[in-house]
Amino acid sequence: MDDIQSQFVEKILANTSAALKTTGEAFAPSNIALCKYWGKRDASLNLPINSSLSISLGKLGTRTSIRVSDVDRVVLNGAELDAESSFALRVQGFLNLFRPALGDPCFEVITENNIPTAAGLASSASGFAALVLALDQLAGWNLGRRELSMLARMGSGSASRSVFEGFVLWHAGCLTDGTDSYAHRLDYEWPEFRIGVLELTASAKPVGSRDGMNRTVETSALYESWPAQAGADLVAIRDSIASRDFRLLGKTAERNALSMHATMLSAWPPLLYLMPESIEQIHKVQRVRSNGLEIYLTIDAGPNIKLLFLADNEQDVCAAFPNLQVIRPFD
Ligand code: DP6
Repeated sequence: MDDIQSQFVEKILANTSAALKTTGEAFAPSNIALCKYWGKRDASLNLPINSSLSISLGKLGTRTSIRVSDVDRVVLNGAELDAESSFALRVQGFLNLFRPALGDPCFEVITENNIPTAAGLASSASGFAALVLALDQLAGWNLGRRELSMLARMGSGSASRSVFEGFVLWHAGCLTDGTDSYAHRLDYEWPEFRIGVLELTASAKPVGSRDGMNRTVETSALYESWPAQAGADLVAIRDSIASRDFRLLGKTAERNALSMHATMLSAWPPLLYLMPESIEQIHKVQRVRSNGLEIYLTIDAGPNIKLLFLADNEQDVCAAFPNLQVIRPFD
C-alpha cells in the first residue's frame, strides 16, 4: 500500500465509524462491458483513461463472507488457497488498504463463484465487489454505493461496476485524487436483453487484462485513437439503451470490442487473445447476421465470445449456436 492509496481510503472512510461485527456477507454480480475500460491514467488509484458501460449478470456472480481471524485465509470455491498464490496475494494486498482503519486484524475470506469458471467471464469484478460489500457489513461502515464502487475499483477496475445491477456506467473522472471516478446504475430495465456465452477454450490467458492494458497504453500506436472512440461509443450505447434501439447498441458494442482488440494487436509484443475458434465464430456471427438474425458480439481480453441478442430471437440463436449458455440479466 502506498501513501496515495492510504490517503484515498482514509478520505472515503472519513465520515464513518467502524463497529466490527462477527461476520459480513454479500453477493455481487459479474458484469460484461458493452463499452470497454481499456487503459489506466493512474495505476496506484486504478483510475481509467476512458469511461465504460456494462451490463451486470443478475444471479451470476460471487458470494463472499469475511470474518476476523488469527491468520489471513482465502477459501475459493471450497478450497483454501496457497497464501502465495496470485489471487490470495491480490486479496491480501486489497485488505491491507483497510486494516489500519480496523485495528490491524487478519481476515478469513470465503468466496464462491457461481459463474461457470471456464466461461471467460470475469470473476475478479464480482470477486472484489462482493469483498467490499462484505467488508462494509463486517465493519459496519454503512457506505453508499458510490463509495463502495470507488473502493471496489481499488481491487479491480471492472469491480467498480459490479456493485450495481442492470446497466452501469463507470465515470473515468478527471481529478487526480480519484474521488470523481465511480460507477452508478443507469435507470433502465430491458427484460428482453440476452447474453450468450460461447465457451471456446478454458485455457488460462497468457497475459492478464491488467498487464495487457498497460502494455497497450505504453506501446500501441493505435491506442491514441481509443479514448475518443470509447467516448463516442459510450454516448451511442447509453442513447441506445434509453431508446431501446438494439441495432445501434449491438453494432456499437461489437465495434467497440473489436477496436479494443485492434489496439491490442498493435501493441508490442503483440497481444493476440483471439484463437482460431474465436475468429471462426466471429465470421459465423457476421454470416448469421447477414442472413437476417439480429445478433452481435463482444469479446474481453480473452478468446471467448459473448453474443448479444433479444428474447424474440433466443430460439433461433440457440439453434444456430448449439451449447450456448444464455444469460438473462434482468431475471
Ligand atoms: C477487457 O478490471 O480486470 O474486461 O483494473 O487492472 O483489474 P484491472 O483490470 P480489469 O480489466 C477489465 C478489462 C476488460 C474490459 C472491461 O471489463 O471493461
